Amino acid sequence: MKISFVGTGYVGLVTGAIFADYGYKVHCIDVNEQRIKELNEGKIPFFEPGLEALVKKNVASKNLHFTTDYATAVPDSQAVFICVGTPPLSNGEVDLSQLTSAVEMTAKHLKGYTVIAIKSTVPIGVEVMLGEIIKKHVKQGATYEFASVPEFLSEGTALENTLHPDRLVFGVTSKKAADVLLGIHKHISGERIVTDLRSAQMIKYASNTFLAMKISYANAVANIAERAGANARDVLYGMGLDKRIGHAFFKYGVGFGGSCFPKDVQAFYDVALKNGYDFTLAKATYDTNLQQVTLFLDKIRAAVGGSVENKTIGILGLSFKPDTDDIREAPALRIMKQLVEEGAKLHAYDPVAIPKVQLVPFVHESSQIHFADDAYGVMKDADAMLLVTEWNEFKELDFKKIKQLMKKPVIVDGRSIFDAQALKEMGFSYAQFGNGSKS
Ligand code: UGA
Repeated sequence: MKISFVGTGYVGLVTGAIFADYGYKVHCIDVNEQRIKELNEGKIPFFEPGLEALVKKNVASKNLHFTTDYATAVPDSQAVFICVGTPPLSNGEVDLSQLTSAVEMTAKHLKGYTVIAIKSTVPIGVEVMLGEIIKKHVKQGATYEFASVPEFLSEGTALENTLHPDRLVFGVTSKKAADVLLGIHKHISGERIVTDLRSAQMIKYASNTFLAMKISYANAVANIAERAGANARDVLYGMGLDKRIGHAFFKYGVGFGGSCFPKDVQAFYDVALKNGYDFTLAKATYDTNLQQVTLFLDKIRAAVGGSVENKTIGILGLSFKPDTDDIREAPALRIMKQLVEEGAKLHAYDPVAIPKVQLVPFVHESSQIHFADDAYGVMKDADAMLLVTEWNEFKELDFKKIKQLMKKPVIVDGRSIFDAQALKEMGFSYAQFGNGSKS
């Protein structure tokens, strides 16, 4: 069976490699020639645990092909999965330019019957506009149907999420398309939901917005606990024991980032508004998230005596979450930008994200930001150390050594991963979110 993927980002590359591993002939298309060249050499454009080995194995077995040429991939494919980026525009709307160009190029090379399955996160109802594009370019004799197959993988655990998803959602317009998609996914476990296109598109937006809302709720609870003399860790743990609530996506701190939650919460809000509904819950989710960085900056200033000007600040963790080098919408970048503007000198470290951070314009242009080779490198002569992204390696730091290296033993923990009591006993000043408890 031959299938194609358009877009070699997290979704297209991971899913394509997994289907190739099941023995399908998979063609992954991307307009980026350099990326295709590197993928054919087994070089992965981003850090994702386990992916490089899987890609290399399936390139070697000739099940996985990378190309810039739609003509070699699309004809005879049972399904073409569109996995291109749908980033936000500066006005908060979704940039559909990659999607429209992928659909147009696909349309030109369709042969026989093909399911065009959109995996990118798209505004509800986008198939109407895409249908117009396709009609202009499709050749006589070729037939097609759109499907919506939203993706639920998370970066850092993408392989596991794709192999063992909680559910597979197929938004279709016919039984024929459903059968093609169910057949292609036969090796993958998880409950199948077959529905219409718009319901499938909405499952994605509504799920991401709900998860983001849960995080913002946890952050709000933490902020209240801190002020009301309670301990958010215990409050949220106590709440999560109720099976209807659960503990997942209930970690408070500097808030959510990444290429999905901030964008999707905004986009779902827009979809609601366009359809005549003022979705205030989505707006509050977004605003609460932004507020966490503001509150974190307040904690940093308070920890160093009021102003960060001329202070040396060490920062641990720059990616938007652990186990990825993705820095899109990373809270660390907003924190760094503000601290630089206020005159601080920054020493930053991340296990994998530094090369990407170095390319960010304000970082590149600043003489106030330096990068360390390891976690201890950021501590030297620091007036404060910030924990922003909770990589596992930061959970095993030697605090005796850290105390000797720092100018002042001050820690501001943005993810509450350190043992507050132990650090206080060692003479550290320790600030975090959510702990107003006196005991
Ligand atoms: C998210 C969803 O979890 C995936 O299901 C979805 O497929 C994906 O978006 C997407 O739309 O493509 P991802 O952005 O990779 O996945 O990362 P998450 O693990 O969901 O984390 C998002 C952000 O929330 C991170 O910044 C993380 O630090 C933060 N977070 C997460 C919290 O602050 N607290 C939590 O309890 C959980």
